[in-house]
Amino acid sequence: MATSERDVKLRINGKPETMTVPPHRTLLEALRDAGHVEVKCGCEKGDCGACAVLVDGVAADSCLTLAWTAEGKDITTVAGLGTLAEPHPLQKAFMDSGAVQCGYCTPGMTIAAKSLLDRNPSPTELDIREALSGNLCRCTGYVKIFDAINEAAAVLRQKGAGK
Ligand code: FES
Ligand code: FES
Repeated sequence: MATSERDVKLRINGKPETMTVPPHRTLLEALRDAGHVEVKCGCEKGDCGACAVLVDGVAADSCLTLAWTAEGKDITTVAGLGTLAEPHPLQKAFMDSGAVQCGYCTPGMTIAAKSLLDRNPSPTELDIREALSGNLCRCTGYVKIFDAINEAAAVLRQKGAGK
């Protein structure tokens, strides 16, 4: 370990991990270096939202977050939401609604939507627009993405009601 590096202990998708990083390394770079390439690198300046992850449950642009500040935090990437066999309702709704084309924005969109639905299970269209205002899509447009989030919200409310 170089003298300026530090071990950062955190949980990524529920699993304890240690990243050895210098002070200037962003969480985006550190996550991708650690193999979490589902976290996408777009603008690297906070404009596109492709790099969004949940930090202790709140969506954050990992390109604007220094890795050192993630010490002790719970980081959730899109890969931590569901699996191919058991996708999260948001992941299923994105697929079913045609809200994915190239898919580059999808991890960040899904994370932003998860953060929204965790704090607001019945969002209005304005709530959804505001929650996704930091996420850019070059392909699909936004209507199908909004449809997917509404669909997932309904499924999650139904699941909650069935508890
Ligand atoms: S890569 Fe982080 S906001 Fe674009
Ligand atoms: S699906 Fe291609 S950027 Fe959104």
